[in-house]
Amino acid sequence: MILLTFEGIDGSGKSTQAQLLNERLQEEGHETLLVREPGGTELSERVRSLLLEPALNVHPMAELLLFSAARTQLVAERIRPALETGRIVICDRFYDSTTAYQGAGRDVADPEWLQSFHRRVTEGLVPDRTYLVEVDPETARARREEDGDEGDRMEAEDQHFYDRVAASYAALAEEHPDRILRLDGHRSIEALHGTIWSDVEALLGENRGTPFADAGSSDL
Ligand code: ADP
Ligand code: TYD
Repeated sequence: MILLTFEGIDGSGKSTQAQLLNERLQEEGHETLLVREPGGTELSERVRSLLLEPALNVHPMAELLLFSAARTQLVAERIRPALETGRIVICDRFYDSTTAYQGAGRDVADPEWLQSFHRRVTEGLVPDRTYLVEVDPETARARREEDGDEGDRMEAEDQHFYDRVAASYAALAEEHPDRILRLDGHRSIEALHGTIWSDVEALLGENRGTPFADAGSSDL
């Protein structure tokens, strides 16, 4: 019925918000599916371990293809079937992560090429709303350190990499203002959840009775 995705740099607080939203929707009696990327299926979780292994040498194009392979499997095996049975699907990261991290962070492909590539990878599935949680890279790093996060292969990247990723997210939000909602991630967890919840309530009102409202649209 509805696909909601969360995006942001590592440590921005998006998983916290994805989980809170999932709990709130369930409390209100909705059937949901919460998945993370890369992951969510056996193949995708195995690809995830390869991608995040600290010492593995991964060519940037191989990285792009592996993240995308994990996504294709997740969409086919879990997301589409859940949407078809009327669930609200929440995805912690989706193809905007690939545009930001591989496209801009690694400079492996330009946004136009990626746009049509993502369409093939997801068979045209487009989120109804994407919540972009924005924090400065220093805050994000401090949050990860506070968590005792030892750091995976992606998190070993320097500040410049994260600056490029954050700038790419901001550019995506400018390009897709109807889909991507920018949120100031420096606000409190509760305040952010409040803003997201109001938006979701409005979306649920609009989408009542119109499943797949945006699937296949060209607003990638
Ligand atoms: P991400 O999924 O973006 O990597 P998480 O949701 O796992 O980030 O949050 C990283 C850490 O920051 C966690 O310890 C979480 O409790 C904390 N955190 C999340 N949101 C906020 C916030 N708005 N303000 C302060 N700390 C936060
Ligand atoms: P994860 O531990 O799930 O990070 P987070 O809690 O921040 O979501 O690790 C996922 C990592 O993979 C994260 O550094 C972002 C990166 N990533 C990409 O580079 N490209 C992608 O397409 C996706 C989905 C994730």
